[in-house]
Amino acid sequence: MYILDSLPCAPTELDRLLHWCTNMFHRVWMCFTALLAYTGVLESQSRLASAQTQPPQYLLGLGIADITGPVVETNMMGYANHAQMDTGLHMRQRSRAWIVADASSPADRIVYINADIGMGDTGIRRSVVEQLSSLYPGLYNDGNIALGSTHSHAGVGGYLENLLPQLSSLGYVHETADAIVAGTVLAVKRAHESLRPGSLAVGNTTVLDANINRSPSAYLANPAEERARYEYDQDKELTLLRFEDADGSARGFLSFFPVHGTSIYENNTLISGDNKGMAAYLYEAMVEPNAMPGNTSFVAGFAQSNVGDTSPNTEGAFCESPGKEWDGLPCEIDHSTCGNRTQDCHARGPGFRISDFESNRIIAQRQVDGARALMGVDLPKVAGPVKYVHTYLNMSFHEFQLPNGTTVQTCPPALGYGFAGGTTDGPGAFDFVQGDNSSSPRNPFWELVKGAVTPLPPAEQVECQYPKPILLNVGYAHSPYTWSPHVVDVQLLRVGNLVLLVMPGELTTMAGRRLREAVRARLVASGVMGDDAYVVVAGPANTYGHYVSTREEYAVQRYEGASTIYGQWTLDAYIDKYTDLVQYLNPGVTSAPPTDDAPEDLTVRAITLRNGVIQDRAPFGKHFGDVLEDVAAAPYRVNDTVYARFVGANPRNNLRLEETFLTVDQLVNGQWTPVRSDSHPSTRFEWLRTSTTFGTSAVNISWVIEDGTAPGTYRFTYFGDAKSLTGSIKSFEGHSSIFTIS
Ligand SMILES: *[C@@H]1O[C@H](CO)[C@@H](O)[C@H](O)[C@H]1NC(C)=O
Ligand SMILES: *[C@@H]1O[C@H](CO)[C@@H](O)[C@H](O)[C@H]1NC(C)=O
Ligand SMILES: *[C@@H]1O[C@H](CO)[C@@H](O)[C@H](O)[C@H]1NC(C)=O
Ligand SMILES: *[C@@H]1O[C@H](CO)[C@@H](O)[C@H](O)[C@H]1NC(C)=O
Ligand SMILES: *[C@@H]1O[C@H](CO)[C@@H](O)[C@H](O)[C@H]1NC(C)=O
Ligand SMILES: *[C@@H]1O[C@H](CO)[C@@H](O)[C@H](O)[C@H]1NC(C)=O
Ligand SMILES: *[C@@H]1O[C@H](CO)[C@@H](O)[C@H](O)[C@H]1NC(C)=O
Ligand SMILES: *[C@@H]1O[C@H](CO)[C@@H](O)[C@H](O)[C@H]1NC(C)=O
Ligand SMILES: *[C@@H]1O[C@H](CO)[C@@H](O)[C@H](O)[C@H]1NC(C)=O
Repeated sequence: MYILDSLPCAPTELDRLLHWCTNMFHRVWMCFTALLAYTGVLESQSRLASAQTQPPQYLLGLGIADITGPVVETNMMGYANHAQMDTGLHMRQRSRAWIVADASSPADRIVYINADIGMGDTGIRRSVVEQLSSLYPGLYNDGNIALGSTHSHAGVGGYLENLLPQLSSLGYVHETADAIVAGTVLAVKRAHESLRPGSLAVGNTTVLDANINRSPSAYLANPAEERARYEYDQDKELTLLRFEDADGSARGFLSFFPVHGTSIYENNTLISGDNKGMAAYLYEAMVEPNAMPGNTSFVAGFAQSNVGDTSPNTEGAFCESPGKEWDGLPCEIDHSTCGNRTQDCHARGPGFRISDFESNRIIAQRQVDGARALMGVDLPKVAGPVKYVHTYLNMSFHEFQLPNGTTVQTCPPALGYGFAGGTTDGPGAFDFVQGDNSSSPRNPFWELVKGAVTPLPPAEQVECQYPKPILLNVGYAHSPYTWSPHVVDVQLLRVGNLVLLVMPGELTTMAGRRLREAVRARLVASGVMGDDAYVVVAGPANTYGHYVSTREEYAVQRYEGASTIYGQWTLDAYIDKYTDLVQYLNPGVTSAPPTDDAPEDLTVRAITLRNGVIQDRAPFGKHFGDVLEDVAAAPYRVNDTVYARFVGANPRNNLRLEETFLTVDQLVNGQWTPVRSDSHPSTRFEWLRTSTTFGTSAVNISWVIEDGTAPGTYRFTYFGDAKSLTGSIKSFEGHSSIFTIS
């Protein structure tokens, strides 16, 4: 299935060689040659020698930093479920950044950021751009910085500046937004400081079993002759841009593959990176096994693409309806229901018999395998100019011409009834279902309530959004501030023959294909690029403009169509705009395109209903960090879970960015040496308030001992920060008893 299977070495042998390389002779030419030869890439010494003598065309920079917001008492981002409040940490969220500058004209540069968050956001982007442009005047600006996301549904919420996504998080959460901005700026700063000459190569491979279409009935509405051009109802290509040093050794990569970050379910409350954050960790740990997570020099990028109708839950959706005759059967296909209701319809990942975390690991590993296959073969080099173009586009009643000359318009944002039906990755509530495009009257209660939530749509909006029955008319809701974005970022980044379409939303599979092909055709027809033009959809990035389905899918109004907020011509408007901007990717063109006004800064008006931490106290006779329940005295073995419980304090007092709430320490030559952090997937950090009145809390730390862990003497350290009634915050540490692994 993967290219790797056909390589002349078993993955385990390749692993060992990779580890050996990284540990012993990192970035040493000898090692690189050996690795290439081993994977059968090295055809002749002369070709490599000639590659070595060509001066590298680019300056490349890569960086990683921690963006994890408050891991407790905060709503999580993705499923829009107000009940999903976080209680601890599985893995930290990171931003990773890649900078490409033209070595002969270094001001020509682009930055792609892949953050382990649900989606890009205009407010976050604005702050990141402001800070970077003042740190490095003349180098980074609104045009060349792209804020992409992994579309994780397991991260900290509350950071989007529009009101609608804040409803489930009780308003804007400054701590979340500040952590994302600070960590993202740091990742770009690290990338900037690591800029040095290097080269790029691009290619793709097929990854078959890491995504499925969660709205196949909508996909089928696309014309048969169009569908016949594709083998699958999902894009299965993983595209990878390899970053190499001047000597040819790999520094990292940026890859794109469309699969939703919904491996970890809605009932999880531990902060994590979902399947793409996990894939990045797995890859980086494979290359630098002795580094702490997030502290590698190799940067592995697993970015999102036309993710709209994808699901990582590859086993399909089934009814979990105990006692009902349809229990265990596949859900009804058009509406994803079980007994006419969405609530019981749940999609299953490949590890569902064990857990959603196991599914997450498997989907991550399949993306890792795809990327590893591409890192092990000779890919075509990227050569040519570095260019970018960015404009703002106001989607409210935006008029444009279709290719056949007919004038159409997009609409102020609105969400349909199918939106409230949710998806098989996270079912909706009440009596809403997907695939609801009827204009007939429905539940009178919702008809009444919806007018109280958002203004009832005027006739021009109803007509514009047709055939979407409007549930939330967010485009007309401006109180206390704008509910959904009207103005989106439109951005294209070019490096040589590669163009990234940085998209303000989640395109469905077919929407992504139409956009890519239209842009590619224009690039070639207008002479901006040759026939090797390579176009990739990147996002959801910059602004969150929800979904983008095709017009045919829109008519069916499954979740993706019902969430295509600017109406049935949304995709065609983007095709019109992105193809029109292609001319600005020509190196000769130095003018800027016309643009609509930038959206207003809403963060200055942001409302937050969150309470701060009042104070922390230890129970009578105890101190912060005291052990409440200790590790066992008997020796542990691989696969055992080590567990301890401590007198805790609220982790919101100090996010410990770039640090950790816990370490597993090993006794090495009489010294305690940290060998695991709170970001290793094998460890878990959980916090539990034990009394609101007394301000007491407890922390659970656990570690599942991985295969390959050295026998020896270990302990847990808990790092906490307690707040006194006067507001001062004091750090403390606690240790478990020592334990042994045999
Ligand atoms: C994958 O690479 C091949 C060869 O360069 C190219 O023809 C194809 O269009 C690429 N696929 C995608 C989805 O870009
Ligand atoms: C979470 O939901 C899944 C799917 O419904 C279920 O199988 C699992 O047991 C739930 N986990 C917890 C911890 O409740
Ligand atoms: C991160 O790596 C650097 C060098 O690679 C090392 O000096 C530093 O101690 C590491 N930090 C952590 C927290 O492991
Ligand atoms: C589902 O709805 C259909 C059509 O309204 C009806 O015939 C059927 O009995 C319903 N099924 C259940 C289990 O309620
Ligand atoms: C977007 O366009 C609409 C319709 O032309 C206009 O009423 C609105 O003020 C514009 N919004 C912004 C933020 O520019
Ligand atoms: C142009 O194409 C659109 C979309 O397919 C269609 O609705 C419209 O009728 C066409 N206009 C003409 C003049 O053919
Ligand atoms: C509503 O969706 C059905 C398929 O579920 C489709 O046959 C019908 O044409 C759609 N209605 C409209 C008005 O587009
Ligand atoms: C640990 O568990 C894994 C996964 O279940 C299994 O493959 C492995 O053999 C186990 N290792 C030991 C030493 O029991
Ligand atoms: C911590 O562990 C204890 C004992 O196993 C359990 O009762 C408690 O629910 C756990 N707390 C959290 C926050 O998981």
